[in-house]
Amino acid sequence: MLQHLIETQQFDREALSRLFSLATSLENKRERTLDGKILASLFFEPSTRTRLSFESAMMRLGGDVLSMENANENSSSTKGETIEDTIRIVDNYADIIVLRHPEAGAAERAAKVSEVPVINAGDGTGQHPTQAFLDLYTIQREIGRTDGIHIAFVGNLKYYRSSRSLAYLLGKYNDIKMTFVAAPELQVKDDIKEYLNEKKVSFEQTEDLGATMKAADVVYQTRMQKEWMSEDEYNRLSKQFVITRPMTDAMRDGAILIHPLPRAGEIAPEVDDSPHAVYFKQAGYGVLVRMALLKTILNGG
Ligand code: CP
Repeated sequence: MLQHLIETQQFDREALSRLFSLATSLENKRERTLDGKILASLFFEPSTRTRLSFESAMMRLGGDVLSMENANENSSSTKGETIEDTIRIVDNYADIIVLRHPEAGAAERAAKVSEVPVINAGDGTGQHPTQAFLDLYTIQREIGRTDGIHIAFVGNLKYYRSSRSLAYLLGKYNDIKMTFVAAPELQVKDDIKEYLNEKKVSFEQTEDLGATMKAADVVYQTRMQKEWMSEDEYNRLSKQFVITRPMTDAMRDGAILIHPLPRAGEIAPEVDDSPHAVYFKQAGYGVLVRMALLKTILNGG
């Protein structure tokens, strides 16, 4: 039984396959299966999609929600309370805790003291596993397979926790090719490269976005993150890999452009009605995947 969800490596292919089937079966459904259960969302960093889609998922399953947004300012952490003490309190109030925190490793620290399941909703530059699940679900829904994929990760690969989580997750699939398109100083970190070598996943690093977009099945764009980058890095690099309509028009038939969102100029607005652009649909799939996850964890699956 899954207790806490801290990183994508915890899930194997069979578990993901079950999760995705359950997610699809929950489309347009409202249930009372989690009636009486309470979800506490503790967000020490800003969020639109993750917090609201988890809360929407819980409500669609008949559960209730305690929500603390802006917890870095509104919780007793401002009085010096540690994350461990906060969790020791909140686990009295809820059956499951969804935690976003600016420190890598915070979700693991929370899980060590929690009496209820903890879901990592993003820990600094660490991981964002539920985002990776919905990214992979989007690939399965839109491309029709999760093996034999050529995926290009673009832009901010050093700091972006969601792309890190998906790269780890795709290491479990067959015949995957990854192209990392980034400036040398924002390239993917050594832990990912070591993992991919261990899993014998083929990958290359390049700055040629145009050629890569013509070849890939999935293009995964990322946001340049002022919150983690130095001002110099941001000013020099934030406009290097903007995706425009001519670039998506040159993509292969059936290829998709995904992005966890929010975006901040790295996909031009005229791309939105391209048949390749699925990032808004992707955000919608987040509710289904999170419903499936809550049901799986709280019903002891
Ligand atoms: N994709 C994502 O994590 O979005 P939010 O920061 O809005 O939750």
